[in-house]
Amino acid sequence: MTLKPATALAHPNIAFIKYWGNRDNDLRLPSNSSISMNLDGLFTRTTVTFSASFKTDSLRIGKKSIPGSGLGRVNDILDLVRELAGISEPAEVVSENNFPSSAGVASSAAAFAALALAASHAAGVTLTEHELSRLARRGSGSACRSIPGGFVEWHAGIEEADSFATSIAPPEHWDLVDCVAIVSAVRKKTGSTEGHAVAATSPLQAARVADAPRRLDLVRQAVLERDFDTLATVAELDSDMMHAIMMTSNPGLFYWQPASITIMESVRDWRASGIPVFYTVDAGPNIHVICPQQQAQSVERRVRELPGVNDVLVANSGGPAQIVS
Ligand code: PMV
Repeated sequence: MTLKPATALAHPNIAFIKYWGNRDNDLRLPSNSSISMNLDGLFTRTTVTFSASFKTDSLRIGKKSIPGSGLGRVNDILDLVRELAGISEPAEVVSENNFPSSAGVASSAAAFAALALAASHAAGVTLTEHELSRLARRGSGSACRSIPGGFVEWHAGIEEADSFATSIAPPEHWDLVDCVAIVSAVRKKTGSTEGHAVAATSPLQAARVADAPRRLDLVRQAVLERDFDTLATVAELDSDMMHAIMMTSNPGLFYWQPASITIMESVRDWRASGIPVFYTVDAGPNIHVICPQQQAQSVERRVRELPGVNDVLVANSGGPAQIVS
């Protein structure tokens, strides 16, 4: 039997309060809750077809067929969906990003959000937003935040069933812009899955996690009240704290490059001179430079002029993951 194919689209997201470290690595239950903004304009589009005529699951990303051994986490999500739907048909997954994967922007959040939505739809199961967010989380923790729209909080939860993300404000609530300064497109040596697994080896992780509820409250309130100064101060602190964990874990993970530090210093100088702007950095050398729409053009221009910046991607706050056909 061939079930009807489904195509879903999802955006990546940028966290203002970061997720780093799990209480349960297999279930991807995080050590702390996190808050992010979806990135409009950048997306992954994924089509899933279940059919008894396929011998095995297959995956194509762009023009590239991924060999069976590379299917790992995609297989896991397909298995979870088959279990929910009570079907056994293999699936064909065809996925593409509208941003070059060589841009070095984390695409796993958008990828697993689009996969969870397309696969469940194609298997004929209707999931609530909470259930979809939980399913996406199993592929990549941050993917659970790309299911709801706009500004999103992932509630760490106590157990598997209550660890999912919800929207705290729609995209139009605040016209923030993310100018992503691309410093390097080289694939990172240590991915986030391995990084989460060693977070607890840093003697600083316990302090970061213990202080997370305070930072979350400040950032949630700052988003709701469109309080840029508080968001800027706390989001930068949170990013710096996560990188301190990375650097002091065993093995130590150093994601910044010299150009990354130049950009962060410039952003701090610009803010000190009165420009509303801040940075936040994921598990890589590229710097997300966030500002209100009104300053976006001039901030983008300034970022482009900095040494070591190869390109700048610009994204407004984006909506939820959606079925597009
Ligand atoms: O979802 P993962 O396993 O790729 O982890 C994402 C971790 C960071 O991007 C560094 C932080 C975050 O909260 O997005």
